[in-house]
Amino acid sequence: MAQEHWSTVDNYITDLFIPPDLALENTLRSTVAADLPAINVAPNQGKLLHILALSHGVNRILELGTLAGYSTIWLARALPADGKLITLEANPKHAEVAQANIDRAGLTNQVEIRLGAALETLPKLVAEEQEPFDLVFIDADKVNTAEYFSWALKLTRRGSVIITDNVVRKGGVIDANSPDENIQGIRRFNAALALEPRVKATIVQTVGSKGHDGLAIALVVGD
Ligand SMILES: C[S@@+](CC[C@H](N)C(=O)[O-])C[C@H]1O[C@@H](n2cnc3c(N)ncnc32)[C@H](O)[C@@H]1O
Repeated sequence: MAQEHWSTVDNYITDLFIPPDLALENTLRSTVAADLPAINVAPNQGKLLHILALSHGVNRILELGTLAGYSTIWLARALPADGKLITLEANPKHAEVAQANIDRAGLTNQVEIRLGAALETLPKLVAEEQEPFDLVFIDADKVNTAEYFSWALKLTRRGSVIITDNVVRKGGVIDANSPDENIQGIRRFNAALALEPRVKATIVQTVGSKGHDGLAIALVVGD
């Protein structure tokens, strides 16, 4: 009952605030057509990412976990013409579907997909001495989220924002003895985030078409 209700309210919000958009709708359709899991952010969450990126005046965005490029498109649309988004994806099929969606959205020049496990591609970004990213969105596998956050800190600067998805997991994060490795991965991340002196951070719970979960938002305040 709760899920049906949350989805109906999400549809109401989407109808009010998300105008029809061919590039985004085609991206969701391609997720189904290519048999990818429907684990993209919800439309209103995509718009939240877009608004946060816009309000932060971002020039450079790093995303971990591309899937079909749905959140990528929302985020990249907040960039200026000479802005850059690098998105990390381990699955070649996901990367291929995403590239087609990014091209169709007219974002080819701004978005670069780096194929490979994020724990391998992140050190390469550091070795390349990439300019700091203004916003990082962490949404890949959940087991390594604490490590991804550590790398994100190396790739950002004071004033950058690091947003991490799925940090509540239907409330499963309150169970210290959970046998679920994703929950344990996120618990490790949440505990590290709370103690990290270089950020001001909080977690907000979310409910909607994607169930009960949460977003962590961290502002980098120290080096
Ligand atoms: C939750 S989905 C991303 C959803 C996307 N951010 C959106 O909202 O549209 C997670 C993605 O991370 C990818 N992934 C899983 N493990 C990864 C890893 N170790 N490195 C990079 N990507 C990974 C998966 O293949 C999947 O496409």
